[in-house]
Amino acid sequence: MAIDFDSIVDRKNTHSMKWDEMESRYGISAEDGIPMWVADMDFRPPQAVNDMLKAQAEHGINGYYGDDDAFKQSIVSWMDRRHGFTVEKDWISTVPGVVAGYSLAIQAFSEPGDGVLVFSPVYHAFGRAVHANNRKLIESQLLIEGGQYKIDFETLPSLVDKKTKILLLCTPHNPGGRVWTREELEQICAFCLERGILIISDEIHEDLVFSGYKHIPTATLSPEIAARTITFSAASKTFNLAGFMTAAAIISDEDIRKRYAAQANACGIGPNRLGSLATTAAYNNGDEWVDAVVEYIEGNEKLLAEGLEAAIPGAKVMRLHSTYLSWVDVSGVDLPFNEVLRRIERDAKVAVNHGATFGKGGETFVRFNLACPRAMVTEAIARIEAAFADLRSQSGTAAAQEQA
Ligand SMILES: Cc1ncc(COP(=O)(O)O)c(C=O)c1O
Repeated sequence: MAIDFDSIVDRKNTHSMKWDEMESRYGISAEDGIPMWVADMDFRPPQAVNDMLKAQAEHGINGYYGDDDAFKQSIVSWMDRRHGFTVEKDWISTVPGVVAGYSLAIQAFSEPGDGVLVFSPVYHAFGRAVHANNRKLIESQLLIEGGQYKIDFETLPSLVDKKTKILLLCTPHNPGGRVWTREELEQICAFCLERGILIISDEIHEDLVFSGYKHIPTATLSPEIAARTITFSAASKTFNLAGFMTAAAIISDEDIRKRYAAQANACGIGPNRLGSLATTAAYNNGDEWVDAVVEYIEGNEKLLAEGLEAAIPGAKVMRLHSTYLSWVDVSGVDLPFNEVLRRIERDAKVAVNHGATFGKGGETFVRFNLACPRAMVTEAIARIEAAFADLRSQSGTAAAQEQA
């Protein structure tokens, strides 16, 4: 049976950040606004997840979660089945979110004032975690070649020094959706290994990869790279379970694992009952669902990319290879950035993420979350079309004059 992603599920007044904080953050009412900002989906997860949660609610007791063998086994099997990543159960520990995980790792493997390297623009919590831990954010700005992000390997050596202790790698990359190739990953990792830089690999988007592309887990590149890598992953983006705040740290090297565990223990980190159960149910039963959701998102992506470029003269959509977060450069639009935003948010009532929060190179971009029923994407495009109608008629007139 086809999985239904088309039905609109009313999320208003459900403590949804995306819907119920749109008014306070953007001044856009959930009654007629379209939230295309924070990265969760407007889809229900696989039925097996909700069945499990229902059974848990019927049992009714939510004491501490113990015996995590099934949870770890579900991760081991998923990583093997979906990514060719051989993981041992002992390598896995749970953490309340990927961001919390890399904060713990930053604390365990660097000192205040040390440098943490990122490829920017990048998911905004990278910079926040680095600054909140009083480390120095080192931004290697991505280049754009052929409409896609590329790492600037030429300038990279000049950015780091002996105090650069960690690379926070986003793979696949958010925003922009690049799935890094084996060659690129090898080059990044060789750079880190030569300089003793620990690799923290955020692979939360690894399952949302479009047809024709393949995610390569960093720790599968070589035993030497695995021995210097902490991988963070989660079922949260893949299956829309972000509210459970449950992720996994995967660390094969025993010494690194012990040091990370000591920091996690110092912070009293323990498993989340519902998050662990939901993750287990999703990984054990979610193959068909995730294949279907990726196909659906690919359809939304094409629709939005073509629709936006037609609606806003000068807008350039970075075509995604993964994720559900469309990244749109509006620097070519004949309007100041704030006016473009004003039209999208005030006139069209579509809430989007603002590129500057993603760091260097993001300033002229806006990010649209596409993980919603197609009718919402269609409606957003129609409203944006109306909000930029004057620009289209101007550019149409200019083109006609040029031809005349
Ligand atoms: C690259 C990346 N890492 C981490 C997160 C958030 O992870 P968590 O909610 O597990 O902290 C996001 C959310 O959008 C993300 O895009």
